[in-house]
Amino acid sequence: MKAVILAGGTGTRLRPLTSYLNKHMLPVGKYPMILYSIRKLKEAGITDIELVTGRSSAGLFTEFLGSGRDEGVSLTYRIQEEAGGIAEALKLAEPFVGSSPKFVMLLGDNLFEEPLTAHIEAFGELEEGAMVLLKQVPDPHRYGVPEFDAGGETIVSITEKPADPKSNFCVTGIYMYDSSVFSFIDQIKPSRRGELEITDVNNAYASKGQLRFRTLAGWWTDAGTFDSLHEAASRLREGEPE
Ligand code: DAU
Repeated sequence: MKAVILAGGTGTRLRPLTSYLNKHMLPVGKYPMILYSIRKLKEAGITDIELVTGRSSAGLFTEFLGSGRDEGVSLTYRIQEEAGGIAEALKLAEPFVGSSPKFVMLLGDNLFEEPLTAHIEAFGELEEGAMVLLKQVPDPHRYGVPEFDAGGETIVSITEKPADPKSNFCVTGIYMYDSSVFSFIDQIKPSRRGELEITDVNNAYASKGQLRFRTLAGWWTDAGTFDSLHEAASRLREGEPE
């Protein structure tokens, strides 16, 4: 399977740190943030990876990661000219994904403990559709939040940053798609904040009964704020060999 890592965006919640440095190059423990996504994919046996980032940061990534050789992966790069949303960034990876029937997408600011192997295997067994990984959180209003059916077995829909969350789960930045994701992206319109939202794409799968979910074990954080960046750094330092 192939994977796409998104490492663009504007990092507004981490300014001024991100005024001059891409969020995914910020230090987390001993390494720049981006290395953790790459290593999580490698751990799950995925080595064919495309990294999508903004124009002003691309040089930093190519200088630091090059072809991916030092990490034992094969990296290609794609430039997102403006931060037009997660789904817009993903669409840029369509030529890379090509005819692969299924792939993984990671948001590069999501840091987590559990290996992805079992989740990816479970997705691999499905004939079609998409899978999201969920995590119970104390502050669901900060994220995409799923609403379940009465039995709690199906996601009816996801709401992006709801004022009144319908569950205490969030959709993490770990997504698995079949190749129909690109035609779903073509059908969505920019949200009120002017972005093509991944939540709209996931809702397109949900409305066809093709959105599966699993729950992520271990700790998880979206390192997009000062508090969560700090939390990620302390958790990862604990686990790192000197
Ligand atoms: O972390 C999980 C959450 O990520 C989900 O629960 C939400 O449903 C999802 O929309 C997303 O929310 P955020 O508000 O945290 O997204 P953010 O704008 O911080 O971007 C997340 C990642 O995607 C980050 O690594 C940068 C990348 N990105 C973002 C945008 C808007 C891009 O590469 N290009 C973009 O245009």
